[in-house]
Amino acid sequence: MIEFAQVTASYDDDLAVLHDVSFTINDGDFVAFVGTNGAGKSTTMRLINGLLKPSAGEVLIDKMPTTQLKTSELARKMGFLFQNPDRQICCNTVREELLFGFSVQGEVGQAELDRVDALIEQFGFNPDDEPYLLNRGTRQLLALASIIVMEPPVVILDEPTTGLDYRECEKVMGIVRQLNEGGTTVVMVCHDMEVVGDFAQRVIAMTAGQVVADGPTFEVLRNSEVLKAAHILPPQITEISLALNQNCAQLPLPIAQANTVDEMVCALVDVEKGGF
Ligand SMILES: Nc1ncnc2c1ncn2[C@@H]1O[C@H](COP(=O)(O)OP(=O)(O)OP(=O)(O)O)[C@@H](O)[C@H]1O
Ligand SMILES: [Mg+2]
Repeated sequence: MIEFAQVTASYDDDLAVLHDVSFTINDGDFVAFVGTNGAGKSTTMRLINGLLKPSAGEVLIDKMPTTQLKTSELARKMGFLFQNPDRQICCNTVREELLFGFSVQGEVGQAELDRVDALIEQFGFNPDDEPYLLNRGTRQLLALASIIVMEPPVVILDEPTTGLDYRECEKVMGIVRQLNEGGTTVVMVCHDMEVVGDFAQRVIAMTAGQVVADGPTFEVLRNSEVLKAAHILPPQITEISLALNQNCAQLPLPIAQANTVDEMVCALVDVEKGGF
C-alpha cells in the first residue's frame, strides 16, 4: 500500500513543487496520473520510489515512511520504468540485461536463469541481440521486461507508451494489464487519454503540484471541471458522448454514458433495434 499524507516536496529548499498531496493506492490497483507538463507527476513517482523525500508530510510504503527505508528495500518493492528506456539499459546483450538485476543482488541461480528464459520466450526476444541496436519499441519492452523479471509487487511506469506506435503500445500495455491481473500494483503516468481510458481503473489528475481529482477513470474523465483544471482532453469516445449529451436533451442513457467504442456500438445497436 502506498500512502501520501499531506506531502509537500521541493528540489531546492525555496520552491515547493508539490503541495499538500494526499492519496492512498491499495495493493492490486491500476492507477494513472494525468495532468499538464510540470504538474508534478514525475515528482510524485520519485517520491514513491524514494529517490526524493518529502519536505513535509509523509510517504508511506506498506506503512513505513520512505525516510526510514533503504533504497535497496524500496527497489525490491518497486520496479521503475523511466520515460526513456535507454536510461536503464546498460548491458551488451538482451540476456545480460535481463539478468542484470539478479547479478547486482548476487542472486543468479537456476531459478533466476529459468525466469529470464521464460521472459525471453514470452516477449519474443533474441537473447543475443545488442540492446542499443533494437528499435525504440523493443527497447521499451526490454526495459519493462528487465523490471518485471524481478517480480516486484509494484511497478511504476513514467509515460510507458510515449514514442511507441499503436502496435508497440498495445503490446506494452497488454503486458502491463496481464501483470495487474496477476496482482501487481500498477502506477502509471500517461499523457495519452486513450491508453488511460482503455487500461487504468482509477485516475489521479494533477495540476500545479496538487491533486485536483481522484476517482474511477471515467468519472474523472467525464468531469468537465476537472478536464479544464488539468488541461486534459478525454478519450475521443468520451468526448463524443459528452458532446452528444450537451446537444441532445433526450439521449438514451447507454449512449450518453458510453465510455468505450464497444459500449457505444452496443448502445447504438440497441437503439436501432428499438430497445429504448
Ligand atoms: N530535477 C529537478 N530540479 C528542479 N526542478 C525540477 C526538477 N524536476 C522537475 N522540476 C520541477 O518540478 C515541477 C514538476 O515537475 P515534474 O517533472 O514532476 O512534472 P510532470 O507532471 O512530470 O511534467 P511532464 O508531463 O512534463 O513530465 C516543474 O516545475 C519542474 O520544472
Ligand atoms: Mg514527467
